[in-house]
Amino acid sequence: MTGDAEYWDSQAATFDEQPDHGLRDPQVREAWRRLLLAHLPPAPAAVADIGCGTGSLSVLLAAAGYTVTGLDTAPAMIRAARAKAAAARVSARFVTSDAASPALPEGSFNVVLSRHVLWAMPNVDEALAAWVRLLQPGGTLLLIEGRWHTGAGVAASWAQEAVLRIGRPASITPLDDPVLWGGVVTDERYLLVSHD
Ligand SMILES: C[S@@+](CC[C@H](N)C(=O)[O-])C[C@H]1O[C@@H](n2cnc3c(N)ncnc32)[C@H](O)[C@@H]1O
Repeated sequence: MTGDAEYWDSQAATFDEQPDHGLRDPQVREAWRRLLLAHLPPAPAAVADIGCGTGSLSVLLAAAGYTVTGLDTAPAMIRAARAKAAAARVSARFVTSDAASPALPEGSFNVVLSRHVLWAMPNVDEALAAWVRLLQPGGTLLLIEGRWHTGAGVAASWAQEAVLRIGRPASITPLDDPVLWGGVVTDERYLLVSHD
């Protein structure tokens, strides 16, 4: 596991080369747009994208009319996210902060979204509790995670138990459609939805 900002800074320049990271292929981008919009309240709901990386999902949702705040610990990721939003001519706010104690106002988001970040948090229960505190009553927590062939990541059952431990419901949907990933995947990838 790594929540090391220097490590992630070193990944920023090449991060978008993975199809699901950069969403450069219109088919991949559209698959993510459809997946997320199926679970989000209507725009312009407020979305916090925790561990936003280069901002691909933040920009996708901002382009769909959402009020997006992306947060990441790695300054190079935040710079890339801001550049991506500018290139797409969308408005989104990006904040450099530790997701363990996010520098965002509590109770102010309709949705907290986080893709491929939970696995890197040293204290998962505390991180989840902090993320849920960002939500308005009735808000939705969306986690996209996996247990990848590299051995990194967290299993769906493990993530589900962690969300249940903080007193929230949690339902799991496998994400095995190749179009999301730019090819066939054989490891475990999933969406966890927690809606009060
Ligand atoms: C695998 S990348 C995922 C990026 C983005 N969510 C996506 O799906 O394209 C993990 C991201 O989490 C960020 N991250 C890791 N630990 C973090 C922490 N403690 N606080 C904030 N961001 C963190 C990294 O800087 C990196 O951008």
